[in-house]
Amino acid sequence: MSNIIETLNAAGQQDLAARLETLEGDARAKLERDILSQDWEELRALYTEKSTTSLEDNVSADLKPMPFKIAADDLRYAFWKETGEILLGKGQVAAFLVAGGQGSRLGFDGPKGMFDIGLPSHKSLFQLQAERLQNLAAQVGHAIPWCIMTSPLNHEATVNFFTEHRFFGYARENIRFFDQGTICALTPDGHAVVDNDRLALVPDGNGGCFRALAQSGTLAWLIERGVRYVFLYSVDNALCRICDPAFIGALASEGRSMSASKVVHKAGPNENVGIFALQNNKPGVVEYSDLPESYRDMTNADGSLTFDGGNIAIHLFKIEGLRKLQTSKLPWHTARKTVCGIEKCWKFEQFLFDAFPQLGTMMPFGVIREEEFSPVKNADGNDSPKTAREMIGRLHREWLRKAHVEVKPGKLYEVSPTLSYAGEGLSRRVFERELGRNILEFDAE
Ligand code: UD1
Repeated sequence: MSNIIETLNAAGQQDLAARLETLEGDARAKLERDILSQDWEELRALYTEKSTTSLEDNVSADLKPMPFKIAADDLRYAFWKETGEILLGKGQVAAFLVAGGQGSRLGFDGPKGMFDIGLPSHKSLFQLQAERLQNLAAQVGHAIPWCIMTSPLNHEATVNFFTEHRFFGYARENIRFFDQGTICALTPDGHAVVDNDRLALVPDGNGGCFRALAQSGTLAWLIERGVRYVFLYSVDNALCRICDPAFIGALASEGRSMSASKVVHKAGPNENVGIFALQNNKPGVVEYSDLPESYRDMTNADGSLTFDGGNIAIHLFKIEGLRKLQTSKLPWHTARKTVCGIEKCWKFEQFLFDAFPQLGTMMPFGVIREEEFSPVKNADGNDSPKTAREMIGRLHREWLRKAHVEVKPGKLYEVSPTLSYAGEGLSRRVFERELGRNILEFDAE
């Protein structure tokens, strides 16, 4: 006990130490457990360092754009796709969903993956993902292990949702849910935020995924199953081509790199996406919230954006890379947020893309936004359920049109992922059979 008090005092947390001394029994045990879960020296260092750092300090003066090409234009694309399918067919690829975020911008009270974006089928984001994965698994003839990272704030709700929906048909032994770590929020003057005699512990950012993957035993589980490539993605991209074979095949056959990332051309300077860049000649991502305006708005002689490579949060790691990352230290980023009613608290987060500079090289893989990126971030306007519905509706109409189906002008379509993973297997005959079942027609709003 005296150790805890000493540690807290040494870390400038006298208020918390005093609070603990007033508690007894169960309440004391709970707060003690919270306190022991934290690295107080690190928190003190973070507070001292970050509260005095400006945005520009996070970005090196030597920032260069990272060139990328649209992969589908490459002559090797078909070869990559086939290579990826072979690897998937051998069971060497797993999907890794990071879903521990709080999704506060969407205003939905629950894990974001449970959200129904209002498609005619009313499938949740989780269901769309489960069906895409199962369709692909059936095509390649091998199950795809699916790792789902939650946080203590949404773990139970996530697992309950999957259980209620019988895991959307996914074999239970092929899914693993596990929690990410948490870190204590600090008041504006650096004290631990305490709420009802518990610490205000918040998820430690999606960069906590490497630690959590290893500590939960999931990395070992993957290695034991012979997995060599891990496809890592965010929960909210309604168009995510999960475990895209071409992406996997490209890294496997071209790759000296430990990882690859999908990249789109930015929609404009103000789009809230991280940008791919070289800092001190090492590949990485600078998050939109960390990017100074001077870089954000920088243009080339032809008027195009200089830092144009947008991060759509789809990455691929070789298993050796993940092994290496389980013990490496990623930098911390700060945000000022209201926590437990206290304004401008300090929240610390790690970002998963800060792993790239540590791994040394990274292979950018350019993709077409309309085919692969429709994030659901806000309740209305940009990146909302409405834009996601429309993008799915237009993309699937295009799939049908390419399959020689006479689609109705002005109508949008939802093709079930159980029928087609990425536009394959469609025809006029399939359309006639499936309209009203696995193909649903709807109107643009
Ligand atoms: C993220 C990317 C951004 C990219 C954008 C594309 C990061 C840090 N930023 O931004 O560069 O352009 O997506 O849509 O990756 N998550 C956790 N635990 C956490 C926090 C988040 O698992 O503690 C998960 C979320 O559930 C989500 C993903 O990480 O699946 C992205 O998090 P989010 O907060 O939505 O990041 P964005 O700001 O959208």
